[in-house]
Amino acid sequence: MSEPKGAGGAWTEERRRSDEGRSRPQGGREASEPVSRAAELFTARFGASPDGVWRAPGRANLMGEHTDYNQGFVLPFALGQGIAAAVARQPGPPSQAGRPGWSGRRLVLCSAQEPGARVEVELDGLAPGQVTGWAAYPAGVAWALETAGYRLPGACLAIDSDLPAGAGLSSSAALECAAALALTELAGLDIGRPELAAIAQRAENEFVGVPSGIMDQSASLLGQREHALLLDCRSLETAQVPFDPAAAGSRLLLINTRAEHDLTTGAYGRRRAECERAARELGVPSLRYLTNPADVERLADPVLRRRARHVVTDDQRVLAVVALLTRAAPDAYPRIGLLLTQAHESLRDDFEVSWPQADAAVDAALTAGALGARMIGGGFGGSVLALVRDGAAGPVRAAVADAFARRSWVAPEFLEAVPSARAGRVE
Ligand code: GLA
Repeated sequence: MSEPKGAGGAWTEERRRSDEGRSRPQGGREASEPVSRAAELFTARFGASPDGVWRAPGRANLMGEHTDYNQGFVLPFALGQGIAAAVARQPGPPSQAGRPGWSGRRLVLCSAQEPGARVEVELDGLAPGQVTGWAAYPAGVAWALETAGYRLPGACLAIDSDLPAGAGLSSSAALECAAALALTELAGLDIGRPELAAIAQRAENEFVGVPSGIMDQSASLLGQREHALLLDCRSLETAQVPFDPAAAGSRLLLINTRAEHDLTTGAYGRRRAECERAARELGVPSLRYLTNPADVERLADPVLRRRARHVVTDDQRVLAVVALLTRAAPDAYPRIGLLLTQAHESLRDDFEVSWPQADAAVDAALTAGALGARMIGGGFGGSVLALVRDGAAGPVRAAVADAFARRSWVAPEFLEAVPSARAGRVE
């Protein structure tokens, strides 16, 4: 999915684990920063206190890339970093109220990452194409909710973030989910989270115009602390899979390669179209229906064969990782590491969505002792996820930084990825 340019925040190195049972989402002390900053921004811009603050996490994906829109399996988890939305149900800024023709059904949006810009969106008559840029994500959610028959009040939203934009960590889905929870709660609507994920996906597909799957919104709305989310994208059934690398003496390192990821450019849509063509030629409703990688050999076109092989093998890798985590075998993490690296090779060679910085980061991380590493998300830029043993994070970071410096690339940024709590109201 594309990343809303205005929603990205500062990248914070090394996040601490938060205490159990806190009302704040996991991510620790730092997770509260966008929350309080969003509330402050609200007061500064709208001259009043927000009714509440909602926060939605970004995601990393442990396994299953480009499988969601093929009705396959994915295994993402919610991050400790995310997007906060301070929101109030009100007709608009005081200057607007009482204006002739003012219905009160208007969204007024501002973002700490877009200083000075204020976007106003009339809910009556709202249609795809009317709003562009970062504001299209919350506006698209409002449009999708109303298209589904829900009626929203006018509202003011102030956004802040500690998720880097363009890093392939789903800041766009986080923005959609924070807005969706805030707007529906202020409207007194009780919508189940799976339905809300589908509505946010529709906003992205039809309002923003990116044909993404349902993984990112599901991870943000359904993720659980110390768990990864197994999602069957055919039945939409979910299961929480225990996933606590720290308890197993390991850590997950995210490497933002600083090559910006933007799925609005069409390459993502082309991959999706190739997969659909491969399924049609193989006579199945989607590539999910193939369970044996040998089945793809029947495809005459070598490109389609490679695309399909990636999807079929990645579905299998998801199930293999789930089995390892569920059985909690002593060698589970080294074996998951090997699967991560295999997935990277498949994304690089068969699906062809990797990029030079990701390949270099994976190679350097492995050479420095990582258990495994791979690019995550849609590809063509963004982040790499490396699984490392405790104590190896420092050498891995140094090796990756050195590999980038030797090529004169912009220095990568690092953060620790901790499977964290789902989106919700925090104030
Ligand atoms: C983006 C999309 C997701 C998924 C991934 C690739 O993040 O938004 O739906 O397709 O790419 O796995």
